[in-house]
Amino acid sequence: MSAHCCTHSAASPPPVDRRYRRTLWIALILNAVMFVVELGASWTSGSVSLLADSIDFMGDAGNYAISLAVLGMAASARARAALFKGACMATFGIFVIVAMAYLTYLGASAGSPNEIDLAVPKQYEAGKLVAAQSGCLACHKIGENGNGGPGPNLSDIADKLPKAAIRRTLDNPTAPMPSFRGLDPVKKTALVNFLAQLHGKETVTQNASE
Ligand code: HEC
Repeated sequence: MSAHCCTHSAASPPPVDRRYRRTLWIALILNAVMFVVELGASWTSGSVSLLADSIDFMGDAGNYAISLAVLGMAASARARAALFKGACMATFGIFVIVAMAYLTYLGASAGSPNEIDLAVPKQYEAGKLVAAQSGCLACHKIGENGNGGPGPNLSDIADKLPKAAIRRTLDNPTAPMPSFRGLDPVKKTALVNFLAQLHGKETVTQNASE
């Protein structure tokens, strides 16, 4: 019985069921729509996982398109199509592995969120350490370190704010920046001194070579 069924379906073109064809079309359209929706969402949000998922939908839509195209063709054509689908899936798999390896490499070389890789004169090292360990990098960029927001880049803060104003900002910041009023006074002075000599790239290197 089963031998009869399988020999039949593998050797000769199966009779094309209209309902089956319609189901394939519906699956194709749904996957294609989801591909476009997720691609747009990943573009606006910058999410790699949404991008990966949208590619998955695209692959599925492609698979349904191939299934529709070879529906009713000879067994050899359907076998070749199946082989092609397999190769596509393997390519997607390899692409995802390579992309993840690349992102892992980027993440690993992005530096620690509580370390500032920036050359400063010796007397400012203590303040640099306080800045690194107080979580400033979560919201500010200092040189090549930290996040680009929501706070402004502090790499040249000395050009924008005088020392006293920097200290005032730490004590009475504008939300969402937390207050550092309770910071140990010695540490706070070191921090303020460090910030008050950040004149952007050129001056920092100039200072460092003094
Ligand atoms: C939760 C996020 C956050 C953290 C953590 C944070 N800040 Fe801020 N910071 C901000 C935001 C947002 C602003 C801008 C506020 C405004 O609109 O005036 C700001 C403003 C500043 C300013 C004024 C900049 C200017 O151009 O006027 C300084 C200086 C500053 N922060 C230093 C620090 C330091 C030093 C630390 C760590 C000890 C720190 N911040 C931690 C979010 C943060």
